[in-house]
Amino acid sequence: MSVTIRVMRPEDAPAVSALADRLVGQDYYPEPLVRAYLKRSRTPEATLSYVAEEGDTLVAFRFVLPPGAWEEGRGKGLTPERWPAPLEDAGYFQSCFVDPACMGQGIGRLLAERAFEDLSRVGARLVVAHCWKESPHDSSRRYLTRLGFEAIAEHPDYWAEVDYLCGGCEQPQCVCTAIEMVRLLDAPG
Ligand SMILES: CC(C)(COP(=O)(O)OP(=O)(O)OC[C@H]1O[C@@H](n2cnc3c(N)ncnc32)[C@H](O)[C@@H]1OP(=O)(O)O)[C@@H](O)C(=O)NCCC(=O)NCCS
Repeated sequence: MSVTIRVMRPEDAPAVSALADRLVGQDYYPEPLVRAYLKRSRTPEATLSYVAEEGDTLVAFRFVLPPGAWEEGRGKGLTPERWPAPLEDAGYFQSCFVDPACMGQGIGRLLAERAFEDLSRVGARLVVAHCWKESPHDSSRRYLTRLGFEAIAEHPDYWAEVDYLCGGCEQPQCVCTAIEMVRLLDAPG
């Protein structure tokens, strides 16, 4: 499979939203929210949101927020006192979704490596992520662990306040757990 990674554009919003609907649950990323995250991921030096394409088909995306552009994820649950660097030096891995037909082929890793480069360029020292514990094939935890992230806390019902229908637990109010994970940017991946 030949996959190209590029910076996300506002016109990608419908395809990004549709992939998220299919993969994680209806309405997790409505188009206006996609555009809002894309905007928040921009710095003067780089835009830290990316898509992967196979031909003309969008098969994956990743949102990354630079230091200063975030204070929490979609839910509540952060323990900065356990981080090896402060919030103002930390970027946030907001989300990465790969089309189920293309999972397990390293596309998520390509997106992450591009993000690590750009985060270093904009001066980040640490990356924080909330791993989806109930993700298909345990892919989220395996993916982040392979990239060098370490688990530091668990947050039950992390996405409970997000108004969407979770494809993982399928409960009216999501009961999935987030594992808070961190990685120093100069750590080997
Ligand atoms: C997590 C995700 C972004 C990783 O991207 P990816 O391109 O699949 O990444 P990789 O190819 O490196 O695979 C990650 C791990 O998941 C496993 N995996 C992925 N798809 C799989 C499948 N269909 N069957 C079995 N294992 C699978 C891989 O074997 C790998 O584990 P390993 O390194 O221990 O062998 C992607 O799998 C995904 O979209 N998952 C669902 C949504 C999600 O959880 N997003 C992350 C939220 S933090």
